[in-house]
Amino acid sequence: MFESLLRDWDGEETVVRFDEPSGSWMFIGVHSTTIGPGMGGTRMKTYAEPADGMRDVLRLSSAMTSKMAMASVPLGGGKAVLAVPEIPQGRDRRELLLRYGDLVESLHGTYVTACDMNTGPPDMDVIAERCSSVLGRTEANGGSGTSAPNTAMGVFHGIGAAVAHAFGSADLEGRTVAVQGVGAVGAPLARMLSKVGARLVLADVDDVRAKELAEELEAEVAPADQIAEVPCDVFVPCATGGVLNPETIPNLRCRVIAGAANNQLSEPADAERLAARGVLYAPDYVVNAGGVIHLVSYEMLDEGDDEVAERLRGIGDTLSEVFARAQADGISTGAAADAIVAKRLAAARAA
Ligand code: NAI
Repeated sequence: MFESLLRDWDGEETVVRFDEPSGSWMFIGVHSTTIGPGMGGTRMKTYAEPADGMRDVLRLSSAMTSKMAMASVPLGGGKAVLAVPEIPQGRDRRELLLRYGDLVESLHGTYVTACDMNTGPPDMDVIAERCSSVLGRTEANGGSGTSAPNTAMGVFHGIGAAVAHAFGSADLEGRTVAVQGVGAVGAPLARMLSKVGARLVLADVDDVRAKELAEELEAEVAPADQIAEVPCDVFVPCATGGVLNPETIPNLRCRVIAGAANNQLSEPADAERLAARGVLYAPDYVVNAGGVIHLVSYEMLDEGDDEVAERLRGIGDTLSEVFARAQADGISTGAAADAIVAKRLAAARAA
């Protein structure tokens, strides 16, 4: 099974280790180092089969190459999966992470890790005891703190670029914006949108969270299972993946989609379905790059707030390029973004 997955993958390097003491599999995928070391988070998860963990690492590392290329940071794409029999805690977790840190260190900087599903800054602190290629440690240990507000700022610029393309002006005053999920990214984003005069409709599976924010911002609340169908100018997915799929797309009543959630499309063909419905879709990996920009800019490039702000504004510029290309070539925005990634990788290879 591993063999056939690897044969179908176009990345550079895969590391597979069985960790006997914990019964876990460690997978590291370095998809591309064309622009710089392959960076991406470490996902800790239980899988039915080890091959499912490997499939995730291959797919996600390739997505990171695209994200990094479009974020204009000097990094390539990578990802790691710790496929554990159950999520470990305490001493078992620490020892697993130390052994994993040794594995990452043995790659001599080809792969740079960070947090992902079920791993957080305290875990990065442990990995960093053994390994220097780690971003996202706790602030006490030299980390840069939560990236969510900068992710929100990047999405805000992305919404501006998308609205400018769709309506001829980036002005959000009086535009109706429906936000799905008002957590660490969605809430600060809603505040930014409210400040520039957008009319907000908010939804969250946590009713209280949505209601409290709606009161603060004088916004409306929609039921969580109906937010994607609310008539609006902009739909902003900031909750989970897979919200744009063959079942939901026919019921959308928005002109623009731009949000932070990862993997918003259930499959690449959904980009074509959205284009066919006249919905302008901002590819998720372009618009939600504020998180990686935050990490890379503060922790790897030693940049400050001004440089980060400039890079976040760049998300809007990159999206404008994607929309222009899609329009000029008569292709979906997803296909246009992929074409620009290929162009940037080819330019880096030729340099
Ligand atoms: P979070 O967990 O803080 O917030 C998510 C919110 O969505 C929660 O309030 C949750 O109750 C709500 N939610 C979950 N399922 C929902 C549903 N079906 N309908 C409505 N609400 C629902 O997560 P965070 O950090 O705000 O991230 C949001 C999305 O953005 C995630 O998909 C994440 O992967 C992505 N993202 C986050 C980045 C960051 O810097 N935090 C960076 C890039 C992407």
